[in-house]
Amino acid sequence: SKPIKLAILGPGTVGTGVINLINDNLDELKRRSGRDIIITEVGTRRQRDDIDASIVQSDDLMAIASSDNVDIVIELIGGTTFAKDLIMQAIKNGKHVVTANKALLAEHGNELFALAEAHQVHVAYEAAVAGGIPIIKVMREALAANKVEWLAGIINGTGNFIMSEMRDKGRPFADVLAEAQALGYAEADPTFDVEGIDAAHKLAILASIAFGMPLQFDKVYCEGITGITLQDVNYAEELGYRIKHLGFAVRRDSADSDSSGIELRVHPTLIPQDALLANVNGVKNAVLVNSHPLGQTLYCGDGAGAGATASAVMADVMDLVRILGSDDAEGNNSHHVPHLAFMPEQL
Ligand code: HSE
Repeated sequence: SKPIKLAILGPGTVGTGVINLINDNLDELKRRSGRDIIITEVGTRRQRDDIDASIVQSDDLMAIASSDNVDIVIELIGGTTFAKDLIMQAIKNGKHVVTANKALLAEHGNELFALAEAHQVHVAYEAAVAGGIPIIKVMREALAANKVEWLAGIINGTGNFIMSEMRDKGRPFADVLAEAQALGYAEADPTFDVEGIDAAHKLAILASIAFGMPLQFDKVYCEGITGITLQDVNYAEELGYRIKHLGFAVRRDSADSDSSGIELRVHPTLIPQDALLANVNGVKNAVLVNSHPLGQTLYCGDGAGAGATASAVMADVMDLVRILGSDDAEGNNSHHVPHLAFMPEQL
């Protein structure tokens, strides 16, 4: 059957993770989707010699976004200007889009989703929130019938890594941030991580799904971890607490703050040391959701880094492959045929 053709725009940390995942799990992807999944084009300003020679590398990202040789465009360049133009170009050319770009979605998601709907394509963004934790799918699918009362989460891996290393090893803030950058956890502009902006982007995205409302990034109260000292961390420990940078989205039925009745905020928070969220350390993220009738559920895993984020990007690709269908024009649909076996004799 015809392969599904992917374009990767921006082969940085996450893009390289996606290329590696596809190489490592090639057989698994085919077995589980019924289709060959291949990267046909990579959009990059700097040609790379570690990318397979069969993949076209080009610095004309706009051309790739509309190329006939591409079914799904994976946008990983980041930023809110050129990335937006690229995604709009892809949508207008009937491509499905997978993106990890939380800043772009938080700020322009309403417009992009409307455009995608008009062109009957999907913009999928599991990788935009909490790295490898499938929290978008949880919100949209598993909790689809629940009334979400509140959610609280550690949703910036870099910040959690910094807070954890400060507490466990007494390391200075700046050292740990430099390591988070070297490990590929931090944003291109790491002030987004440490000033809470990245968490605010993610909270806006999560809340839009959890509460079924438009994106409201400008309503998020935002405070980061730059003011937290080693002394603060140590005093908190002595008092039986731990400082975690948390995002909160809370339903306020009295609706004191705004018309939506949803309070959105990110800030450092003192939590008791025995609370579950207090024990989520390093680059891990965790989202605790209280919903009716399910009650509290906790989702935890790596929130940043190449492998975790590539896992989420490719989960979206696999969803789209299913949507695109496993049939092709030649009618080779052998993977639809149920596996037939003889009944065991003893039955
Ligand atoms: N810079 C982000 C973080 C990457 O540290 O959480 C994942 O969104």
